[in-house]
Amino acid sequence: MSNPSIAPELHDIAASFRWNAEHVLGDSSLLYQKLAYRVADDADLLALAAHAQPHQPPMNLLFGAVHYLLLRATDDPLKNFFPDLARKPNRQDDPFPIFRAFCLENADALAQLISSRRVQTNKVARCALFLPAFEWIARRVAYKPFALLEVGASAGLNLNWDRYAYAYGDGVFCGDADATVVLPSAVRGARPPLPQAFPRVQTRAGIDLNPMDVFDDDAMLWLRALVWPEQRDRAERLRRAIALAREFPPRVEQGDARTQVAAWARAIPPDTPIVLFHSFVLNQVDAAAREQYYAQLRGLDVERVWFDVAVEPQTWPARLSVTTRATQTTLALCDHHGRWLEWIEHAAAV
Ligand SMILES: C[S@@+](CC[C@H](N)C(=O)[O-])C[C@H]1O[C@@H](n2cnc3c(N)ncnc32)[C@H](O)[C@@H]1O
Repeated sequence: MSNPSIAPELHDIAASFRWNAEHVLGDSSLLYQKLAYRVADDADLLALAAHAQPHQPPMNLLFGAVHYLLLRATDDPLKNFFPDLARKPNRQDDPFPIFRAFCLENADALAQLISSRRVQTNKVARCALFLPAFEWIARRVAYKPFALLEVGASAGLNLNWDRYAYAYGDGVFCGDADATVVLPSAVRGARPPLPQAFPRVQTRAGIDLNPMDVFDDDAMLWLRALVWPEQRDRAERLRRAIALAREFPPRVEQGDARTQVAAWARAIPPDTPIVLFHSFVLNQVDAAAREQYYAQLRGLDVERVWFDVAVEPQTWPARLSVTTRATQTTLALCDHHGRWLEWIEHAAAV
């Protein structure tokens, strides 16, 4: 039910806070869940979140901007409610009045951040979803090395997927035992295809509207701010993945995937299979733009072998899918943070 004191132009934003509180935050951030329910009824805070650019998620931006200011602040009473910022986080008191006061006091700085930044999380944990998809593809191309393009790569941390190790539970481990970044993910039901040795990559790159430079401390602080406060493991993984990326910098070029993917593909030798992958990227564009993206792939030479691996939250839970010229296969249902996957492998004609 929408609150009658909320202006009609804020109703969609209010609904998105409520939807996230009901469906997304419950198992990931109790702090943000409590706050999201209350922001959904608060005209001032909704107006602040409304500074988000088109197709950018206002909730993630409001919370990310607040978290960013707190990570830079030496002292603030709101920090006491953040499990990653307080030694003994306050779980008893209602965080909302202090949160609200903080937002109103810092309204200008928050509006500036919300209107200029994007939700550019870089969740390396999602590589635990990509790995079985890459192995599934490698089996279909007789383990030929492929050309890899991450679409919406942000800082490109997921491009270093074969420098990470993976723990799928029940002692199933892939990768180097000494890897500094180990990604746990629970397998539900059938075991997904997992490699003995990582599939080989001939060339790799990323494309993003706004690439994040792993050597830019402020950009990396923004990535850190987008990690939800309860997810201390994820924050630590991010720190390690950034350190690794500073040793092995991923190549991410500025560009719009809606128009520039075909040019990248045409520069790849014709007998090299192409694998594109993306997570939580095409949800930032509308249906026409998604169609424009896939039309480029269908427009490639018919001899060209390509696979498009996607984790995009068009449905909930998210799905890991692979699209080719002829089919779309839902490989797995999965958690949007990569914490679990359930292999289902269901193919349909495109
Ligand atoms: C939510 S982040 C996800 C980053 C990463 N894929 C992950 O899962 O951690 C979405 C990224 O997609 C990028 N993006 C959105 N639309 C794009 C487009 N049309 N072309 C290229 N990048 C795009 C954004 O700039 C942002 O870095």
